[in-house]
Amino acid sequence: MEWFCHYSLVLLLTVNGFLIDEKFQQKNRLGRTLVLGGGIYDDNNKEIYGTIVRLAGGVNHAKLGIVLAASGDFNATCTFYQNVFLDMYHAHSVYCIPINVNNTSANSDPLVIERIKQQTGIFFAGGEPERVIESLFYKNHVPSPALLVIKEMFDTGIIISGSSAGAECMPSAVMVWGGTGSSYNALQFGTYDGSEVSDRDYQLYDKDGGLGLLDGFIIDAHFSDRGREGRLIRLLSDTHHLHHGTDWGFGIDEDTAMVITNVGTENEKAEVIGYKGVFFADVSQSNITAKYHSYSITNVMVHYLTHGDSLFLKNKTMIFSSTKSPMIGFERNSRAMTSTDIFNTNITISHSNEPFPVHYPEFVKVAKSLFDSKLDNVSYGDTYEHNPTFRVYMSRSGTGAKGYTERGQDLQTNDITSYTNLQVNITSLG
Ligand SMILES: *[C@@H]1O[C@H](CO)[C@@H](O)[C@H](O)[C@H]1NC(C)=O
Ligand SMILES: *[C@@H]1O[C@H](CO)[C@@H](O)[C@H](O)[C@H]1NC(C)=O
Ligand SMILES: *[C@@H]1O[C@H](CO)[C@@H](O)[C@H](O)[C@H]1NC(C)=O
Ligand SMILES: *[C@@H]1O[C@H](CO)[C@@H](O)[C@H](O)[C@H]1NC(C)=O
Ligand SMILES: *[C@@H]1O[C@H](CO)[C@@H](O)[C@H](O)[C@H]1NC(C)=O
Ligand SMILES: *[C@@H]1O[C@H](CO)[C@@H](O)[C@H](O)[C@H]1NC(C)=O
Ligand SMILES: *[C@@H]1O[C@H](CO)[C@@H](O)[C@H](O)[C@H]1NC(C)=O
Ligand SMILES: *[C@@H]1O[C@H](CO)[C@@H](O)[C@H](O)[C@H]1NC(C)=O
Repeated sequence: MEWFCHYSLVLLLTVNGFLIDEKFQQKNRLGRTLVLGGGIYDDNNKEIYGTIVRLAGGVNHAKLGIVLAASGDFNATCTFYQNVFLDMYHAHSVYCIPINVNNTSANSDPLVIERIKQQTGIFFAGGEPERVIESLFYKNHVPSPALLVIKEMFDTGIIISGSSAGAECMPSAVMVWGGTGSSYNALQFGTYDGSEVSDRDYQLYDKDGGLGLLDGFIIDAHFSDRGREGRLIRLLSDTHHLHHGTDWGFGIDEDTAMVITNVGTENEKAEVIGYKGVFFADVSQSNITAKYHSYSITNVMVHYLTHGDSLFLKNKTMIFSSTKSPMIGFERNSRAMTSTDIFNTNITISHSNEPFPVHYPEFVKVAKSLFDSKLDNVSYGDTYEHNPTFRVYMSRSGTGAKGYTERGQDLQTNDITSYTNLQVNITSLG
């Protein structure tokens, strides 16, 4: 047996240079591994889907179990991921796990459990994150046998991945619900426990948290494109005192993912892959005044990481990719921009702009322009909606505020910009 293992390892190495036994590699080097996407389209995302397939065992080897519990359309979503993983990215097999809100009995079906155990990677598809919880937990947040098996597999180094709602559902911290909650609504009306309020124009959350695969962070998706900065900050600020509350949250952009390795250890580390960025908010130093229709928060520290940047999750140390250079002293504009629609209410950022977005989301634009300005240390953007208008103030004059950029080679290529320690205040203007 021993011999066979060594033999197969050598064979894999010979057949395909980089492909050493991934399970072995993960257990010993990467530990528990998550790949969390902010909404990944099937075209143009070789890096993200390729990473999932590679970490699940590689081309022709990866056996992917797809959790479709978030989806409202099991068959269509299953077909979509069969096309993606089998036809486009050449996994060995795709198993659509038949557990959803209408089929919770499958959670304890021995045949289903057995099939799950045969997989070399799990992918949580998108939809509504609350449906994942409704499908995989019994009453009182008691995990189902199927979820327990997935967690055991995670503990042995089997990659768990997800996109959109499939990423939002991962934390042990407070979990966002789907619905139509915009940043403006969240700032104006606050956020609410989904077990008590049913109006989905409000931003709702699950106070018991999500699946519990990652500790200490709220996770949101489709982030900058849908201008979700205000809703994530308000959600952190409304819930950080709760049992599953936290001061820290991630907002993952579309066509972007965080690869988190060594989950649950001191070396827990996230690296950003894909085209856009990951927003990271910290309200631990914030002062908050919240009333119905009026809200203000000061000293939110925000960070934006892009391709190749990484973050140690336990001590919040960021490492910016060596392809980027500090912007200080090399700013290209004299003044920073302001915005009259800071959360993109009246601006649609089209996915078809990828891989080189023509229109950056407003928050991203204003923040970048601040780090790229010679003269300004502060800027702001207002909400498109009024009565009240919310103003988002940004400052780069505090300790540790830094921008990093990889300049585009020509006018067709955009700069790839990251920043750390941008101080943000949000307040209603009368
Ligand atoms: C569950 O069943 C309800 C009622 O038949 C249906 O409306 C809903 O779409 C189903 N959900 C899923 C995820 O299949
Ligand atoms: C999904 O596909 C199965 C098997 O082909 C079929 O029996 C079922 O009716 C389909 N469900 C829906 C909602 O279309
Ligand atoms: C429900 O789950 C069982 C496995 O327990 C599976 O055989 C069946 O096809 C599923 N039904 C639906 C409608 O998904
Ligand atoms: C943060 O944690 C990582 C992993 O343990 C360690 O390598 C790094 O030196 C730490 N950074 C600081 C500033 O403490
Ligand atoms: C935050 O509030 C505390 C107590 O209300 C106050 O002492 C502190 O100065 C405030 N900090 C800021 C930055 O406003
Ligand atoms: C909203 O967007 C539309 C379409 O881009 C534009 O014509 C209109 O002027 C915008 N409205 C405001 C108030 O900016
Ligand atoms: C944010 O609020 C704090 C506390 O009131 C203040 O010191 C700081 O200058 C404000 N920053 C910006 C960017 O408005
Ligand atoms: C901007 O901030 C930097 C760093 O704190 C400081 O050196 C500089 O004087 C500030 N500039 C202005 C115009 O306030």
